[in-house]
Amino acid sequence: MAEILKKFSSETDPNVLVGLKTSDDAGVFKLTEEIALVQTVDFITPISDDPYIFGQVAAANSLSDIYAMGGRPITALNLCCFPGSGIDNEVLEAILRGGLDKLKEAGAALIGGHTVKDDELKYGLSVTGIVHPTKYIANSGARPGDRLILTKPIGTGVIIGGVRSGKLSKEVLDRAIEDMVRLNKSACEAMLPFEVHACTDITGFGLAGHSLEVAQASQVGIIIDFASLPHYPEALELIRTGATTRMTPLNRQLVAGFFKCAAEIRPEEESLCYDPQTSGGLLISVPQSQGKPLLEELHGQGMTQAAIIGEVFASPEPALRLVRMR
Ligand code: CO
Ligand code: CO
Ligand code: CO
Repeated sequence: MAEILKKFSSETDPNVLVGLKTSDDAGVFKLTEEIALVQTVDFITPISDDPYIFGQVAAANSLSDIYAMGGRPITALNLCCFPGSGIDNEVLEAILRGGLDKLKEAGAALIGGHTVKDDELKYGLSVTGIVHPTKYIANSGARPGDRLILTKPIGTGVIIGGVRSGKLSKEVLDRAIEDMVRLNKSACEAMLPFEVHACTDITGFGLAGHSLEVAQASQVGIIIDFASLPHYPEALELIRTGATTRMTPLNRQLVAGFFKCAAEIRPEEESLCYDPQTSGGLLISVPQSQGKPLLEELHGQGMTQAAIIGEVFASPEPALRLVRMR
């Protein structure tokens, strides 16, 4: 599908700074020498029975692509696929209130939207941000020797499914929700003073898929150390007992041929790297000397789970490795 979409793009326009080709988080379009637009759209199906929380997570998820580009969100449009009947107005209002509250926190204005009737409820936003035309952060700048920092734990996909099917307690989901409602705003603000070579956010394609996008766009190899990877232990346990998601096998296929797993990695650990994330963290590539200082900054800003999870190496072909270093 991605290949079909890439055939239809406007990359020849000189003002398109980031288009479809590099599978980046958002498009970047130069307006003036001082300002470029950063634009993205995303919507999701409910991740919780609580409509207010769902609205917040959907908005945090949509805003995330702006932060992953180093941008500042300014305006947003609601995208509502709501069933025509069978759902109380209060539920729909709670979803929209959740979205608006996150936009307020982001400092972005809600200026419109569009609603369609759809049997399966979905909600999200199209978000426009701004960035200096020479200062946006693409996924294509990672360099050999860089350290990779991940700002949130992974495993939300299988946890959302586990709670739906009654295999997991609400407390585990509540912990994951705390992370999912958190905007990547503070992670973005923390990284901007550093010499960030590349950044992306970890969402539907999982840690492996989005890391490979960085490797492909930057023409490098990426090695991830499972021992330092922040994750929900319950997610690993769920996968070990047979739980998966609809996206997991697709995400595995997506990286096949580029991804090598060391012998010491257990099957459930490999599978966790294919787990689709909702409102996941930022994956940030910085020079080696800036890895620890940026990590300290993130910890100081309350992102206590942030960790240096790997590094970038020179490789003639884009490559991804999963190892355990201790
Ligand atoms: Co993204
Ligand atoms: Co997106
Ligand atoms: Co309309």
